[in-house]
Amino acid sequence: MFASLTAEIDVDYSLLVRQAASLLEDERDQTANAAQFSAFIYQSLADLNWAGFYWVKPAKKANGEELLIGPFQGKVACARIAFGKGVCGAAAAERRAILVPDVHAFAGHIACDAASNSEIVIPVIKDGQLYGVLDIDSPTLNRFRPEDLQGLEALLALFVAATDFD
Ligand code: SME
Repeated sequence: MFASLTAEIDVDYSLLVRQAASLLEDERDQTANAAQFSAFIYQSLADLNWAGFYWVKPAKKANGEELLIGPFQGKVACARIAFGKGVCGAAAAERRAILVPDVHAFAGHIACDAASNSEIVIPVIKDGQLYGVLDIDSPTLNRFRPEDLQGLEALLALFVAATDFD
């Protein structure tokens, strides 16, 4: 029982990078690639309940910028997130990846989907410009290990290189 659980969680990220490269090789459109990439992550990693993008956009009700939901897989989620709010807003404001073993212990976590218990958010940066964040949620506490963060950063780097941003 334990062995099969471990086998599902232990993915070969170098294989996933090659598969993602093949998936995105003939297309550079941002929406198309983000939709395909979200679906690819969601179907390739075990035990997820949400995987997708938030993009940096002009704020609707204030000056400055905020995050607006983009292509994703999972249940409906918050459409707009202010910079600095929740894990996504913190990753965008600080331009750094954040691995959260227990979202309930993260001050300001936004519970879009009550099923989420752990989360990884990685900023989408190309040529020094922040375009958004990749958000990946699991219903399992401590689902993500440092290897998952490294592997997902490698996958996201491939996505960024393969995509022209609007
Ligand atoms: N939990 C996130 C919000 C986005 S959703 O979970 C899809 C956060 O705290 O930023």
